[in-house]
Amino acid sequence: MSSSDIDSILIEDRQFEPPAAFAAAARVDEKALAALHRAAQKDHTGFWAALAQTELDWETPFTQTLDDSHPPHYRWFHDGRLNVSWNCLDRHLTMDGDKTAILFEGEKGDTRRLTYAELHRETCRFANVLKQLGVVKGDRVIIYMPMVPEAVIAMQACARIGAIHSVVFGGFSANALKDRIEDAGAKVVVTADGGHRAGKIIALKAAADSAIEHSAVKPEHVVVLKRTGEAIPMHAGRDLWWHDAVAGVSDDCEPVWVEAEHPLYILYTSGSTGKPKGIQHSSAGYLLGTVTTMKWVFDLRPDDIFWCTADVGWVTGHSYVAYGPLAAGGTVVMYEGAPTVPDAGRFWAICQRHGVTVFYTAPTAIRALMKFGDEIPARYDLSRLRLLGTVGEPINPEAWMWYHRVIGKERCPIVDTWWQTETGVHMIAPIPGAVATKPGSCTIPLPGIDADIVDEHGNPVTQSDKGGYLVIKKPWPSMLRTVWGDDQRYLDTYWSKFDNRYYVAGDSARRDEDGYYWIMGRIDDVLNVSGHRLGTMEVESALVAHHRVAEAAVVGRPDAIKGEGIFAYVVLKGERPTLGSEQKLTEELRAWVAEQIGAIAKPDEIRYSDNLPKTRSGKIMRRLLRTIARGEEITQDTSTLENEGILGQLRGKE
Ligand code: PRX
Repeated sequence: MSSSDIDSILIEDRQFEPPAAFAAAARVDEKALAALHRAAQKDHTGFWAALAQTELDWETPFTQTLDDSHPPHYRWFHDGRLNVSWNCLDRHLTMDGDKTAILFEGEKGDTRRLTYAELHRETCRFANVLKQLGVVKGDRVIIYMPMVPEAVIAMQACARIGAIHSVVFGGFSANALKDRIEDAGAKVVVTADGGHRAGKIIALKAAADSAIEHSAVKPEHVVVLKRTGEAIPMHAGRDLWWHDAVAGVSDDCEPVWVEAEHPLYILYTSGSTGKPKGIQHSSAGYLLGTVTTMKWVFDLRPDDIFWCTADVGWVTGHSYVAYGPLAAGGTVVMYEGAPTVPDAGRFWAICQRHGVTVFYTAPTAIRALMKFGDEIPARYDLSRLRLLGTVGEPINPEAWMWYHRVIGKERCPIVDTWWQTETGVHMIAPIPGAVATKPGSCTIPLPGIDADIVDEHGNPVTQSDKGGYLVIKKPWPSMLRTVWGDDQRYLDTYWSKFDNRYYVAGDSARRDEDGYYWIMGRIDDVLNVSGHRLGTMEVESALVAHHRVAEAAVVGRPDAIKGEGIFAYVVLKGERPTLGSEQKLTEELRAWVAEQIGAIAKPDEIRYSDNLPKTRSGKIMRRLLRTIARGEEITQDTSTLENEGILGQLRGKE
């Protein structure tokens, strides 16, 4: 796609200064931010070295900050050793072990509070269980859990012994889980009998059983947390209950000190091929990014109650539930269920009940809740809120203003944070006591992050109304290290476009006269559905795996709540269903995709045609398909179509 295709259309000129009261008490004010930027510009590695020394506890201090001798493979602090779980738990015990680490609320209303001392003890015990199961440093553990404290405990326990976890979102299907077990080569799977979500029970153990049955890699053990109490089969010799396993296990578990670069986790995310990629993160650099952004962007203070609504199955739940808040010694809220159970006031009820001060969610959730009107939030006391955040997709100014007015009562700054699974932590985001915000813009890059917007040739785009490729020009500590088991894909996807010089995020963006970034969307075939990334190819491969489907093409189209909806064009092996009779097959295919990937990948609409529109070289004309999916006038040249007659079918008219 050329940058002229991504010219900006969004014009928004409202601007909100940091509220004076907020700025006066903020960790980072305008002056402090200017000093941070100056320090980072003057000495990029020195800037990060100083932070790594002050923000992390090391068992062996590092002597080299950045090894850039083999770009684009970078090593940060590589001769230092530390332990992530030590940094998240042990180091706070000496200060205040009774401080609340996790405030949990189940969908049905059950609540739990874990102090740092308790979380530390549970983590040590579970780490000892993993050791007893033969898990050693470098082994992979798949975590397929509901949003309960044990998910964080399992992650922290892996970190404690140097095992590499890969959390698989509980909404993913057995088949998606199988792919990840195989790709990661998992030795142990940690799951639950089920979880509560939207009034239903998510049958996690059943999915795990099916995944393992079909997997070429056979994990040796499955640890099962009892959450719902539903009857489930246990495989003798392989499966064990969490509560049995931890009974009688020691509370003591010396951390395994690992090299700074030791992989902390693998997290699978979608790209432009059918196969998700395992993004590999480091230990020290990643953790440093989480702590610094907790302090800079979330302005985290000791008495804050921080709630990030993301599931631990996504990177947001890694950085801002399981690691960042704990590394920074904060109190984090976890909620198991859906935002609309029992009604659309649930988020605000939780904010009131637990006294949430910093609230972080996705634009799709804001839009969905906004639909229910201002009266619902008005029923709750939201006066403790002082800072709001968003992540996952561009936020439309209307939703931003609602969030600002109805939730933040025009008092709370909003931090719109741009980042990715690959970047590990926030990259472009306002520091709330220092940077004025504009609805829809993620504002300016954080200190130490050298972002830019470049054209097809890698030259900076300077015009404020022109879009270009969003790139990062210098390595940063929390960056991904590679794609697990496929380094070539790391090189091809993120670096080859500009000869290994810049990290290519895959987003297009523009920068306005004030240097503010406006994210315009993906430039690859990746969709952003409810703030979650989905490859069009993934959905296409799922569709063509169905016995009746010959070919499929999937495109996104704007959706008022989800941001982007999924629109699929399908060519069948046999007869095309006649117009009006496709309902049954459509439901079957939607259910099929849910089974192959997960419910979030279900196409919103499926259209059947005799052929797909292709260029002479055989490439599917996706732009044309996107135009049709949006119901827009076709302006593209369609004269090269082999069969112009299919246009009527694609438009659902024949
Ligand atoms: O397109 C950008 C969008 O989400 C992508 C990253 O998706 P994922 O790796 O799943 O991580 C989501 C949570 C960090 C980006 O390439 N995106 C994320 N945050 C924003 C955003 N787009 C606009 N504004 C944001 N604040």
